[in-house]
Amino acid sequence: MKTAFEKFNFKSLGELKEKIKELNLDIPVSEDVSSLKCDAKIGDRALKNLLCVHPMEGCDSKEDGSPSDLVYRRYERFAKGGSGLLWVEACAVNEGGRANPRQLYIHEGNVDEFKNLVEFTRSKAEGEVYLVLQLTHAGRYAKPGKGLPAVIAGENEYLDRFLPQNVHTITDDELSDLENQFVNAALLAQRAGFDAVDIKSCHRYLCNELLASYNRKGKYGGSFENRTRFLFNIVKKVKEKADIDVTVRLNAFDEIPYPHGFGVDKSDYKIPDLTETKKIVSTLYELGVKLINITGGNPYYNPHVNRPYDVGFYTPVSHPLENVRKLLNAARQIKKAVPDMRVIATGLTWLREYSANVAAGCINDGWFDFVGFGRQAFAYPDFANDIVNSGGMQRGKCCIACGKCTEIMRDGGTTGCVIRDSKLYLPIYTEGRQGKQKITGTRVGESI
Ligand SMILES: Cc1cc2nc3c(=O)[nH]c(=O)nc-3n(C[C@H](O)[C@H](O)[C@H](O)COP(=O)(O)O)c2cc1C
Ligand code: SF4
Repeated sequence: MKTAFEKFNFKSLGELKEKIKELNLDIPVSEDVSSLKCDAKIGDRALKNLLCVHPMEGCDSKEDGSPSDLVYRRYERFAKGGSGLLWVEACAVNEGGRANPRQLYIHEGNVDEFKNLVEFTRSKAEGEVYLVLQLTHAGRYAKPGKGLPAVIAGENEYLDRFLPQNVHTITDDELSDLENQFVNAALLAQRAGFDAVDIKSCHRYLCNELLASYNRKGKYGGSFENRTRFLFNIVKKVKEKADIDVTVRLNAFDEIPYPHGFGVDKSDYKIPDLTETKKIVSTLYELGVKLINITGGNPYYNPHVNRPYDVGFYTPVSHPLENVRKLLNAARQIKKAVPDMRVIATGLTWLREYSANVAAGCINDGWFDFVGFGRQAFAYPDFANDIVNSGGMQRGKCCIACGKCTEIMRDGGTTGCVIRDSKLYLPIYTEGRQGKQKITGTRVGESI
């Protein structure tokens, strides 16, 4: 569907519904958001509501990978915000896998620091909160410093232009070792008191890249069995060796042309083909994974797919609502294919306060089980309390999808919401932009 790019401009829920109709999209909307308050279960753990905070990296940990004061600040805000589940941001399983030298990195030397963070976060939440730690190797996006290279599974004509000079193609033996490093990190996360670990398989970081390694030779490339070997081996080994829930944040589709993208129609990469995604989720369920977090796209190559926006590095031809629908529909299709799997959806933040109405509409229609918020949590950490206690969200507190938190990341800064948490992040944003080409047009402090 070709539509002109439009910014968010809805003055009422009715106007949003009109646009959904005009674009011929099947996005459910509910005036009443009370279904989001329901409690729900993951295994035998009860969650106080269906609202989740997605992993949101602040690029602000200490040099040794342990949480800094800013990390504590972020999780205090999220915990007080009232969501039933907090998905703690990307945390590297080894030094070389860090996306930046300030990414969290769990190891034997700092596991107690993570334990403190877990206890602190639980102490700030009202009632129970389910805590997931996202374990990662950043792969081609690894920038750990100390002369360590980015790591690829194979060449990719669409993504290689983002690579630094220092690149290493990971060998089968190294992948085999890396599986064990994920398992070690899971054991450490268990010691730290997390409820679950996520074997991060999204946004084209290493594990996601392997799912699309059609052209790689050897036991981790080519066939479905080989491309999924790394993920399934890690899940099996963690299940065998650790006593912690295992989950996966999974790209349902990359929206990168085949054979370089996963989950895409071979003749039109803009159309998701979820056949293999469903097979993966079904196998994960058999392996004991009871919760999955569905996402898509790549924040470097096609950020409009990954995080629908009003202002970004380029102007997409599709309407942001079409991208919202694509993400939500992927979660819906996965839920339909593997009904016993608990599914968290991504893609709501662009909808501002109406994200609660769309989330409730989808939940009422059985599209998925939980709804996750990424940028919204940076901008509006207490969105869940407002939904649960006040029956909805306030536009004045919402994320405006301006892309500035992503820009800070690209500029190498520590990130957060430039608009709604401006005292802390506006100076960082401004400093990062100095000397750089101005690429976005939102006025900072703009109230929408
Ligand atoms: C600054 C920033 C940091 C992010 N960090 C992570 C991360 O650590 N792990 C992850 O899986 N996704 C990460 N994401 C993606 C979000 O979790 C989410 O998928 C994306 O923002 C789309 O959801 P939203 O529309 O609710 O924001 C990040 C996004 C942003 C903007
Ligand atoms: S800077 Fe704030 S308002 Fe802008 S996209 Fe990020 S979270 Fe949203």
